[in-house]
Amino acid sequence: MSSHNEHQDQSVNRPPSRKEMSRRQFLTYTLGGATAFMGVGAILPMIRFAVDPILHKKGAGDFIKVAEVSKITDEPQEFTFELKQQDGWYASTATLTAWVRKNDRGEIYALSPICKHLGCTVGWNNNKATPDEYHCPCHGARYTKEGRNLAVAPKPLDQYKTKIENGWVYLGDIVPNTEAAREA
Ligand code: FES
Repeated sequence: MSSHNEHQDQSVNRPPSRKEMSRRQFLTYTLGGATAFMGVGAILPMIRFAVDPILHKKGAGDFIKVAEVSKITDEPQEFTFELKQQDGWYASTATLTAWVRKNDRGEIYALSPICKHLGCTVGWNNNKATPDEYHCPCHGARYTKEGRNLAVAPKPLDQYKTKIENGWVYLGDIVPNTEAAREA
C-alpha cells in the first residue's frame, strides 16, 4: 500500500519529461506565432492609414493652370488662382495672386505680390507718384516691373515657377527672383 502511494507521489512530483516540455513549447510557439501574425495583419493597414497622409503632403510641387498665354502682355496683370493643399489629414484651399507679364524676349514670368519687407501685398502702378512700378502701401517699398527692389525692401519680389502648355500659363512653387538679375 505504502509502496503504491509512494509510486503515485513520485509520478505527480516528477518533473515534466523532455517530450512533454517540447510539446508544450511547440503549442506555445505555434499559438504565439499565429497570434502575432494575425495581430500584425490587423495592425499594418491601420498603421498605413495613419502614416500615409503624412508621407504624402500634397500641394507643393504641383502646377496650376492660371491664364491663357494669348492674354499675357508686357503690362503686368493680376491673376488669382486656388491651390488645394493636403497636409496630413488637413485639407485646405489657399487663394493666391500672381502678377504675370511677358518680358522683352517674349518670355512669360509671374511675380509673387508678397512684399519682401514685412509681407504686405504689393500692387502694380498703384501709386501716382511712382508710376509703372510695384508699390507696397504699408511702408512704401517699390519694385521694378521685373520685381527688382528699389526702396525699403531688402530683396526682389519672388517669382512663381512657370510652365507653358497647350496655350496656358501654369504656375508652380514660389522661387527666388531670376528676372530682376537679367534686367540689371
Ligand atoms: S511690408 Fe511692404 S513696405 Fe513694409
